[in-house]
Amino acid sequence: MCGIIGIVGNREVAPLLVDALKRLEYRGYDSAGVATIKDGKLDRRRAEGKLANLDRKLGEEPLAGHVGIGHTRWATHGAPTEANAHPHFCNGVAVVHNGIIENFAPLRAELMAKGATFYSQTDTEVVAQLLSAYRQEGLAPREAMQKALGRFEGAYALAVLFEDQPDMILGARSGPPLAVGHGQGEMFLGSDAIALAPFTDEITYLEDGDWVVIKRDLLEIHDRTGKLVERRRQKSQGAAYVVDKGNHRHFMEKEIYEQAEVVSHTLAHYIDFAEGRVKFESSLIDFANLDRLAMSACGTAYYAGLVGKYWFERFARLPVEIDVASEFRYREMPLTGRMAALFISQSGETADTLASLRYCRDHKLTIGAVVNVRESTIARESDAVFPTLAGPEIGVASTKAFTCQLSVLAALAMIAGRARGTLSAEDESKMVRALVEAPRLFNQVLTAIQPQIEMLSRELSRFKDVLYLGRGTSFPLALEGALKLKEISYIHAEGYAAGELKHGPIALIDETMPVIVIAPHDRHFEKTVSNMQEVAARGGRIILITDETGAAATTLETMATIVLPVVDEIVAPILYALPVQLIAYHTAVFMGTDVDQPRNLAKSVTVE
Ligand code: M6R
Repeated sequence: MCGIIGIVGNREVAPLLVDALKRLEYRGYDSAGVATIKDGKLDRRRAEGKLANLDRKLGEEPLAGHVGIGHTRWATHGAPTEANAHPHFCNGVAVVHNGIIENFAPLRAELMAKGATFYSQTDTEVVAQLLSAYRQEGLAPREAMQKALGRFEGAYALAVLFEDQPDMILGARSGPPLAVGHGQGEMFLGSDAIALAPFTDEITYLEDGDWVVIKRDLLEIHDRTGKLVERRRQKSQGAAYVVDKGNHRHFMEKEIYEQAEVVSHTLAHYIDFAEGRVKFESSLIDFANLDRLAMSACGTAYYAGLVGKYWFERFARLPVEIDVASEFRYREMPLTGRMAALFISQSGETADTLASLRYCRDHKLTIGAVVNVRESTIARESDAVFPTLAGPEIGVASTKAFTCQLSVLAALAMIAGRARGTLSAEDESKMVRALVEAPRLFNQVLTAIQPQIEMLSRELSRFKDVLYLGRGTSFPLALEGALKLKEISYIHAEGYAAGELKHGPIALIDETMPVIVIAPHDRHFEKTVSNMQEVAARGGRIILITDETGAAATTLETMATIVLPVVDEIVAPILYALPVQLIAYHTAVFMGTDVDQPRNLAKSVTVE
């Protein structure tokens, strides 16, 4: 969840470290810090809060040196204070860390018993202290590293500087990602290719258990046992990505408005426009011969998967077992019969999703992954990769990745339907036409509903709680709407299946609880209207998101009715995501929260 960077350079590195951290800030922004070596002396600057604070501090107290490491933190152990900010120092050892050293407590006790003094509440400080202890026992940096890594339980990506080795950085990976960037007379370490993009597009991804030594003209990779190994050097696409907001106030806004383009791009990957059919991917997933499909993901990606479940079951008659990855990984689900597994992730690094994938792989299932970051660990560990072509998503609240995930899942459900003989060519071609035309509606819809949603959001911002309801594929959208609103506006929100209302949540309904109902005029519409009647009868305020037919078919008084064009049911969840995202966005903007970097969150969740 944190971002790390290391540079053995041939110019001043502090500004370069900060530049890379800016690109990593999506991974955490509770505090930031950098350390460099100059004239054989380690020095550091650290600051609480956003990177801008560190940048300011470096302006006041510059840090010189051509070799350095940097960190942007998502706090796990210890409050987001300067004392807990990385890099952590101990007797000439400096460490930045992404992950959690789970056995930090016994290690800390052991080191303290030998006289160590700790200066932070972090798990990371044990890394610096243990390395320092081994150095004091006389071990060289490599030996100290190999020995220390053998003692850590949990997850880590590390970059380490030794004061007495001023032209070298050591790195290690077990769990969270770490890549080496090859420069011209310079070498880099970073959490991802985007961080390294300003410096190089030549990348070597480390495998789990690897640790490395980098110098200006040297890269030495060791596996978990210490053996020297080779890892592939490849061209990264990170450099191609422009990571700026354009004319938008926030990345989230930009990403909402990019959806026409990226969904269209994604669909083009899966759809043969000339033939009007989904392209048959001769992928390793043999949908025709499956009894069941297991699916898992977290957060928004999980809700995309829930929509996918409806599609796979309806169009391909393929039963789907789906769960959030943090539960899936520990459920000990019996993986029997002819099964495959599909994982969905924007980042491709989410720890729980990756652990679920590995559980299925250990049970010999064929693994498919719907991922946005092609070079991610989840992509690399899957048998079949189904990319979403959303481009980098920087806003912590996932928007364009979600609609691209839905587009890919729609295509896969159709591929499965065709393979299993449950989807007629006629139905497939109708759905394909509908999907292909969908992106053209996006900008039209966003322009049409934006002023109404902006006004509505002012009103919504006065409430403390909001309920979202939906049926069928609109149910996962209700969950997604509630997640989006709470994560960026901090208004408490819950999503429910509309039919569940009367089993409990209806007790909450009064005039202080707006109820956002997502109800395209589909086969569930009448039933959802009955649920709206139940809300209205109890004084609840309804915000209805429906289509032209739905709006004409209901006479219920609403706080607002947001009207979308009538679309095919395969398109509806993708299109209805737009008002759901805009409501959260404008409410948060109106409330003045930090839309792109909401409190306590991080974009990439590489810890359990
Ligand atoms: O990178 P992933 O898609 O695996 O991330 C999963 C969730 O952490 C993510 O969707 C999260 O819920 C978003 N912040 C929601 O907007």
